[in-house]
Amino acid sequence: MSAGTPARIGLVGMGGIGSYVYEQITTQPQLGLEIAFVSDISAERLKDLPPELVLDDPGQARERRPDLIVEMAHPDVTRQWGRAFLEYCDYMPLSLTALADAQLHEAMLNTAGTAGTCLYIPHGAAVGIDSIFECRDAWDEVVVTMKKNPRNMDLSAVMQRGHKAITAPTVLFEGPTREICPLFPRNVNSHAAVALAGIGFDRTRSRLIADPSLDVSIIEIVARGPAAELKIERSNPLKGVSGIYTYRAIWSCICRAKARGVRTQIC
Ligand SMILES: NC(=O)c1ccc[n+]([C@@H]2O[C@H](COP(=O)([O-])OP(=O)(O)OC[C@H]3O[C@@H](n4cnc5c(N)ncnc54)[C@H](O)[C@@H]3O)[C@@H](O)[C@H]2O)c1
Repeated sequence: MSAGTPARIGLVGMGGIGSYVYEQITTQPQLGLEIAFVSDISAERLKDLPPELVLDDPGQARERRPDLIVEMAHPDVTRQWGRAFLEYCDYMPLSLTALADAQLHEAMLNTAGTAGTCLYIPHGAAVGIDSIFECRDAWDEVVVTMKKNPRNMDLSAVMQRGHKAITAPTVLFEGPTREICPLFPRNVNSHAAVALAGIGFDRTRSRLIADPSLDVSIIEIVARGPAAELKIERSNPLKGVSGIYTYRAIWSCICRAKARGVRTQIC
């Protein structure tokens, strides 16, 4: 990408977030972003797109000369393609629970180091993690607590009876973030983001509370160290697994990474 040339963004996943990001890129050319390709496991999701933008096989993504590939699909995409993408362009996975696999994460960082590419960690649903990142050597403890209505959670890994069996606030998990990621891969990407920004998957503690009285999703982050104590709380209404706020946050992450023509940038 050179000055004046749009940054080419490859999109993997054309669901709720992917469709939103596609619309933002294609309706705001002044930002200097263009679609390199769109890929999705479901052909149905791609049928209304211009055929030249559709990529059936993510293994062929390099031919579309992307500057950044954004995964908005499933942790499997990072498992299967994360390293390959980083060999030739920057990569921003949203399904960050995939990186709780220490071997995969390390391999991806090594590939990025050799290729001169960058693994972007979008803050997504987790606000305030820039401050956690800036002082990551200084925290004695970081705890993430998520409270959600059980009907907005995928509980299949921990209970057979479904969300209606939970009738009062219930702690579903308390322990290291590395262990919660494979149990609730679609619900705890924000926990993974906090771990990646701060003291890692083993030292970051996660709590997940199902509360059937809630009509909002709440994420609390507490970080304690000798220099400071941070307490961050975010509460937002839900739409499916992701909320509208999350859509805006992820779009801003992409803009901070690659957009031009933005007159003010928070950094
Ligand atoms: N980091 C964060 O804070 C954060 C926040 C919200 C969502 N997420 C994650 O982002 C992802 C997208 O969220 P969404 O709300 O748009 O989901 P969604 O279900 O609306 O859309 C997912 C899309 O990905 C496609 N897909 C699924 N598996 C695929 C695969 N292996 N290869 C290619 N395409 C595949 C589906 O067909 C679908 O179109 C989810 O994994 C979600 O957990 C992360």
